[in-house]
Amino acid sequence: MPQPVLLALTAHLEREAAIGAYEAEDEAEPRVRETYELLGRVVGAAARNMAIVENATVGFSQAVSAFDFRPGDRIVTTRADYPSNQLTYLSLARRAGVETVRADDLPEGGVDPASVRQLASHPRTRLVALSWVPTNSGLVQDAAAVGEVSTELRVPYLIDACQAVGQLPVDVGALRCDFLAATGRKFLRGPRGIGFLYVSDRMLERGAFPLFLDMRGADWPGSGRPLQSRGGLGRTRARPQARRLAAPAARGDSRSARARSRAGAVRPRDRRCRRSGRRGSQAAAPPAWH
Ligand SMILES: Cc1ncc(COP(=O)(O)O)c(C=O)c1O
Repeated sequence: MPQPVLLALTAHLEREAAIGAYEAEDEAEPRVRETYELLGRVVGAAARNMAIVENATVGFSQAVSAFDFRPGDRIVTTRADYPSNQLTYLSLARRAGVETVRADDLPEGGVDPASVRQLASHPRTRLVALSWVPTNSGLVQDAAAVGEVSTELRVPYLIDACQAVGQLPVDVGALRCDFLAATGRKFLRGPRGIGFLYVSDRMLERGAFPLFLDMRGADWPGSGRPLQSRGGLGRTRARPQARRLAAPAARGDSRSARARSRAGAVRPRDRRCRRSGRRGSQAAAPPAWH
């Protein structure tokens, strides 16, 4: 791990120990916001299209979970896909009856875009997904050619770019993808525990959101009652940016989330406080919350 990464991590942990986790999070907010901008630049996107998540696998599965698959729906993928992604497809097959089909390879290796076109032309195709640089073969698949096919067929396109980001130039516009997942721990030389997901404006405008939201990924106008009793997600508005898919600690919005919380929406820390006989968050001095 490069020295600047180690120093940034240990410095943050030291601030947490010295002033508390929420305060350290607030203090780091400008740098977290800047990170969204910088990651956007890495893939040629705006900060609003970036979600910081735990790793590439989580980014990938968050993207897959944004689809309301029905039995008989299809995912088109390739023959050189990352095993965790394959396991996600197997799980979807078992739980939702989703069929995964694999495009043929070219004689020289790598997916044949013509085969993707043929398979993805099926009317039940909901998603095309590909590992750009699969794990251990040195293969680089033609992600842009598959993007062209997906765009032409108007099928959403997800790229696992875990091993491409940091090694190859990445431009989501040229790739024509709707989602692109990657990790911090490989060629970006970051630590384990950080990855990201790019989400296209097209998907954001469609209202795509992951299966499991949390209160930092969505605005909930309820008053602390369980989601179901408020009419489920019908009353829940996913936040407008890709950050609705981000890991809670990485959204750089802790102050605003707490402001919303104080304004009367969901107040988990209030509830915790009441249970322990202390006063609510408006009145409590910050150190009471650690
Ligand atoms: C192509 C590909 N995708 C995904 C992953 C998983 O990355 P992470 O550990 O960040 O989930 C790897 C890791 O080796 C990989 O090679």
